[in-house]
Amino acid sequence: MDSFDWGNLPFGYIKTNYNVRCYWRNGEWGEIEVSSSEIINIHMAATCLHYGQEAFEGQKAFRCPDGKIRIFRIEENAARLQSTSRGILMPEVPTELFVEMTKKVIKLNEEFIPPYESGASLYIRPLLLGTGEQVGVHPADEYLFLIFVTPVGPYFKGGFATNDYAIVRNFDRAAPLGTGIYKVGGNYAASLLANKLAHDAGYASEFYLDAKEKKYIDECGAANFFGIKNNTYVTPESTSILPSITNMSMQQLAIDLGMKVERRQIPEDELETFEEAGAVGTAAVISPIGKIVDLQSGKEYVISKDGKPGPISEKLYNKFRNIQYGIEPDIHGWNTVID
Ligand SMILES: Cc1ncc(COP(=O)(O)O)c(C=O)c1O
Repeated sequence: MDSFDWGNLPFGYIKTNYNVRCYWRNGEWGEIEVSSSEIINIHMAATCLHYGQEAFEGQKAFRCPDGKIRIFRIEENAARLQSTSRGILMPEVPTELFVEMTKKVIKLNEEFIPPYESGASLYIRPLLLGTGEQVGVHPADEYLFLIFVTPVGPYFKGGFATNDYAIVRNFDRAAPLGTGIYKVGGNYAASLLANKLAHDAGYASEFYLDAKEKKYIDECGAANFFGIKNNTYVTPESTSILPSITNMSMQQLAIDLGMKVERRQIPEDELETFEEAGAVGTAAVISPIGKIVDLQSGKEYVISKDGKPGPISEKLYNKFRNIQYGIEPDIHGWNTVID
């Protein structure tokens, strides 16, 4: 695709050639279908439209320096979608079907995978929808699983840099025993207003405390949180945050680097004790945190004194990226290579 300015792609939707689809009807998954249409045709009483019976995933494919295409821990995305499906009564997409459809949609759209040098990647969006009609609040009896892809620009255009976050005490993203651990659209609808207010006030994203006590750290918008102190990687244990695959991998890399890992409740006050902190997720890998401001109390937690990312965050980030790009050995077997 010579017409693209690969280095200046936004994080947005760009039409590609094909998407792949599979329907669940009469209790089983059908054949994989290839479509060149961006439109889906569903019943107006579909459960995804009324009762939020839908879920999605997000991962990336990379064109690597050795010319190969790699996707990172795809089986984990399949497992998380299966967990979400159990949570809101949808049929589980088997891992083999998930992986086969992902490989297929990437191959079909190979010309849209940005070159390595651009820092851009191909974003993969799997989507599972309750398409069967219901008027009462019940699960659908038909489902559509679809995957589309779109090229997206690098998160850090001017190099790895810090961002500031805003604690929003007057909003909850998810309830302690609600759907926060699942990747369902309703959680994101619940975050739109807080996210807009944080952006309008000049912050990278909103930062949530636990919904019950407003005491412990939950998540940073659409990313998990970690803090570093005393050679330890500390990340929240909570029943209302999404289990991030990037965070799970960072914990392993921290152990590989000889650090300790703690998964536990993190009281807001503890923020002032961290030497470094970051938001972790597919979008940025690590977005290092400069400061976190509690918008209601006015309290500021300055994490980076010089405004720059800390050395451990940078080391973790580089190690992670090098594994994703096949530059360093993939000792944990995280990558799927598409030739
Ligand atoms: C709410 C939320 N938390 C955390 C993450 C990070 O998860 P992952 O590392 O699997 O992208 C995401 C992104 O998917 C998210 O939407």
